Amino acid sequence: LKTVTVGLLGCGTVGQDVLTLLQRRRDIFADIGVRVVVAGVLVRDTARARNVPEGTPLTTDPSFLQECGVVIEVMGGTTRPLSLLHPYLKSGRPVITANKALLAECWNDLRDYALAGKLYYEASVMAGTPVIGPMSTVLRASRFESLQAVLNGTCNYILTQMEGGKEYEQALAEAQQLGYAEDPPTLDVGGFDTAHKLAVLARFCADGDFPYSAVQVQGIEGVTLSMVQEAAQAGEKYKLIAELKREGAGWKATVSPQRLPANHPICTVGAGRNVLIFQGDECGELFFAGGGAGGMITASAIVGDLLDLMIGFPGHVPLH
Ligand code: NAP
Ligand code: HSE
Repeated sequence: LKTVTVGLLGCGTVGQDVLTLLQRRRDIFADIGVRVVVAGVLVRDTARARNVPEGTPLTTDPSFLQECGVVIEVMGGTTRPLSLLHPYLKSGRPVITANKALLAECWNDLRDYALAGKLYYEASVMAGTPVIGPMSTVLRASRFESLQAVLNGTCNYILTQMEGGKEYEQALAEAQQLGYAEDPPTLDVGGFDTAHKLAVLARFCADGDFPYSAVQVQGIEGVTLSMVQEAAQAGEKYKLIAELKREGAGWKATVSPQRLPANHPICTVGAGRNVLIFQGDECGELFFAGGGAGGMITASAIVGDLLDLMIGFPGHVPLH
């Protein structure tokens, strides 16, 4: 077996499940002739209790990156991961990341590596529900018209719980406990996480340089319990909707809370699911739906990306 040395940046909700899944899928890697060895796992606090395989090399020292053939970044934030990943990417090595804030906000630093096929980031949008894969490959043959989506599990959870009468603060605390929310959760409830994801998607179907700053963002902080319940009485639901559509010669990208009929396809996919409706001229209307947050479902996309890399598939290449 060929040994592939992996470095993991972050070992929280997602990182712990990546380590578990790498162990669980050892046989699939062996089938393609690969033995994965984790060389280092970067954290802030090595004493913190974690659910990780015995012998996991936790450290606060990132120097292990030098010996890694691939890095998986699941630490969050922008400045710190960029400072760690930039020299690594510059040396020609590949990176797998679930970090949509990094992708959305630091695109000028990352775009060339994505174009070179060195960046893998299926997990960054809709976690383990594959949407970046199809949008970066087969769907390009079709003229893109629009997309409408629910991309944030935390807001989805909060709004669904409010339908049942739960207060906003209680529902947010539960979403944090479930490992869905960002740090800080204003990224979720303020609509910024959804906007990050929309910017990432727009680069596959609208403009390879689509700027995060072009997304108009409104979060769910203004949606009260009485508004949600009044909507329910009228047979409607509140959802935080991301939309991308043509406007004149350009594109309009928005994130905003909207009231939709309860029988709208976005509302009927089941509570807690992310959903994306893609409209293309030739491919017609496509519907993607599934879990969009949580440790193991995100880890499944990350380990899937690692398998793609090992097999020889390029990363997720935006529009040129
Ligand atoms: P998390 O639970 O907060 O874990 C973050 C990890 O990164 C922790 O282990 C933390 O170390 C480490 N870390 C953070 N800053 C660090 C620093 N400056 N130096 C060293 N280590 C640092 O976050 P998460 O939920 O796993 O999310 C990780 C990434 O995946 C984020 O980019 C998020 O947007 C993305 N993502 C998350 C989900 C989800 O459902 N959770 C889904 C898709 C994508 P300590 O443990 O020592 O504090
Ligand atoms: N905080 C994000 C969410 C995690 O709630 O959807 C998944 O990207």
